Amino acid sequence: MKQEWRLRNFHTLLSVERRRLRAVLRKLALHPAVRAAGLVFGAAFILIVGLAPLSSFLVEGWLRQDIELRSQLIVRSIKNQVVANLSESNPDLVPFLERITDDERLLAVGYCSDAGQMLYATSSMPHEVTCSAIAQAKGDAFDLVLKDGSRVHVSPTLLRTGATSGHLLVVHDLSFLDERTGKARLYTIFALLGASLAFGLLTIGVVGAVMRGWRQSLQSAIAQIQGETTHIRQANPSFPIGRDFYALLDALRTERTFAEGLYVEWSPSRLSELLRDELPGAQVIIVSNREPYIHNYVDGKPAVQIPASGLVAALEPVMRACGGVWIAHGSGSADRDTVDEHDRVAVPPDHPEYSLRRIWLSDEEQEGYYYGLSNEGLWPLCHIAFVRPNFRDADWRQYIAVNQRFAEVVLSEATADDPIILIQDYHFALLPRMVRKLLPKATIITFWHIPWPNSETFGICPWREEIIDGLLGSTILGFHTQFHCNNFIEAVDRFMESRIDREIGSVTLGGRETLIRPYPISIEWPPRALAGQASIEDCRRSVRERFGLPEDMRIAVGIERFDYTKGVIDRMKAVDTLLSLHPEWCGKFVLIQAAAPTRSKLAAYAELQSEAARLAEEINARYETSDWRPVHHVVRHHEQDEVYELFRAADMCIVSSLHDGMNLVAKEFVASRDDELGVLILSGLAGASRELSEALIVNPYDAGQMARAIDQALRMSQSEQRQRMRLMRDLVRRHNVYGWAAKMLLDASHLRERERVAHPGL
Ligand code: G6P
Repeated sequence: MKQEWRLRNFHTLLSVERRRLRAVLRKLALHPAVRAAGLVFGAAFILIVGLAPLSSFLVEGWLRQDIELRSQLIVRSIKNQVVANLSESNPDLVPFLERITDDERLLAVGYCSDAGQMLYATSSMPHEVTCSAIAQAKGDAFDLVLKDGSRVHVSPTLLRTGATSGHLLVVHDLSFLDERTGKARLYTIFALLGASLAFGLLTIGVVGAVMRGWRQSLQSAIAQIQGETTHIRQANPSFPIGRDFYALLDALRTERTFAEGLYVEWSPSRLSELLRDELPGAQVIIVSNREPYIHNYVDGKPAVQIPASGLVAALEPVMRACGGVWIAHGSGSADRDTVDEHDRVAVPPDHPEYSLRRIWLSDEEQEGYYYGLSNEGLWPLCHIAFVRPNFRDADWRQYIAVNQRFAEVVLSEATADDPIILIQDYHFALLPRMVRKLLPKATIITFWHIPWPNSETFGICPWREEIIDGLLGSTILGFHTQFHCNNFIEAVDRFMESRIDREIGSVTLGGRETLIRPYPISIEWPPRALAGQASIEDCRRSVRERFGLPEDMRIAVGIERFDYTKGVIDRMKAVDTLLSLHPEWCGKFVLIQAAAPTRSKLAAYAELQSEAARLAEEINARYETSDWRPVHHVVRHHEQDEVYELFRAADMCIVSSLHDGMNLVAKEFVASRDDELGVLILSGLAGASRELSEALIVNPYDAGQMARAIDQALRMSQSEQRQRMRLMRDLVRRHNVYGWAAKMLLDASHLRERERVAHPGL
């Protein structure tokens, strides 16, 4: 609940705030006042840089005009007097001129004759102003820099007096001009700076006001979350509060990483990390009928065998990553002699990582619970393989008793009252409810590894209500596909009084909710068995030698438990059809059919074995030559190393299940082909076909179609094989079994928190 709650709140908060922030920024960018302020601010800068010199230029121009006007005025006012004095050669002219220069800007007045003689000049006339300079300027006004660095403006005016003429000079001091233009430049800069500042402040004010609004809304959202946190804390004192926004964002990022799985390469370390972070301190207990390691006496000594079981192939790596206890039936001949006084053995034997707790079953219990109800009743009931299910009261009683025994062992192995219990498969339909009664706070994840039939088919089971009720003791009930989830929900709808929520996929019975979810199972990546494998070439050579096949022989493999659901007979029929339709493959193609005997005590299995042996013989008899037979039928247990060697030696793998929850052989074949070659022919009736769509998907009931698929596989170019194999390998790598377990554990962790909040007293 905690994670889900935080996740939801922060998703909502973030998306709302992200939208709001974007809107604010958009508004800010578009706001006329902000735009105008920005424009003016920018313009002020341009003006300061461009207009300050211009202002002094203009001021100087005005002042010069003024000086010229003043010069003309002075000339006009003294002209007559000067002309009169010149004609009379009156020496009193100089004092007259001196009086005129009392004006502060007017520096000097003088007269230059055409003969180049300064006839009159006030005492303030600078030495640098000479009649030759006037002649050089051809009578035009000009500026002159004096020795002391000051500037003067000289305005000459031509005067004619009878036969003579000369220039009346008016000299102005220009130092005031520099002072005025400097001031003008300074005032302009100050004025523009003031304007920029004012508009800058205006801009800041507008932006600040808008940002304040956004910040307030963000703070109120955080306060709201903290308020809710406090509320939850009151209900659940262990709930953490006081984290700041960034810590929560951090948590959100972690959760999104785990939840979306998009960015995660799932691995054992990632999985145990998730367990540590999301379910800290939780004990993991797996319950299955089949144990992951069987000890059998071989030549008088205990030898370890890994059973042929998709369930074991998937769960064992998960358990290695998570640690904990695996409770299972001890079925090996040396099992009792390899456990401690608590019936436990540390496994894997060569590098122990978890504990295997064995349970001993009497022959009678095995007959009723395992062979009877589980494999003669529920197995054929759930698989559409047209084998009639058998239901016997005595088997049912044993089934109840054995489920109860496992429930008690779960209780005895639990080190806390809220372990995570992973219950596996159809052998334990009643166990979830039984465990729930003993450990009400436990998180129970039940996974149904086989298909769930439609409700009409399921309805023929005499104990349908008890089975559904037992399963609904789980916190989560998982199937491989949504289709099987739907079938289960339909059965609940039809046979039970309960509340069904189809939208979220849950069933509530007796006030407790069970999530019904699809979790397509997978294999470890990279597979452990691949580590010690020879090169593809060496595998091919070794397999060809073992079966006496020439180098160019094309090989198809079929590897599985010898079960009637696997379509072994149908595969052989397809080979028969291929050779009759395409005789060109005679002598060039073989099927290596490796089948591990299983449940052989049951009539249906015994019949299958003899039927398969007979058919293989018949087909071989029909086509064989002195040095070739098309079907190599090997009935024995194959260790994982041998299985992988066969996969790597093959041109194709044929998985022709008549009905299968998932089928991990298909995924193992893909995982084994690190050369990216080989073709997978896969039954459309196996759950794996939903994911491995680049396989050649076939209907195993249609021998002709399967034969055509084999022919297509034999002719397929390497580049097409590679394209298909790459996509399938990518899928299996990304959706490996660690990801499968992670998804279930994450869902369990969310539900656990929700339970804690909803029932704080529990
Ligand atoms: C199927 C079942 C498993 C079972 C396996 C092998 O995959 O779903 O639960 O372990 O077959 O069958 P066996 O009866 O030998 O355990």
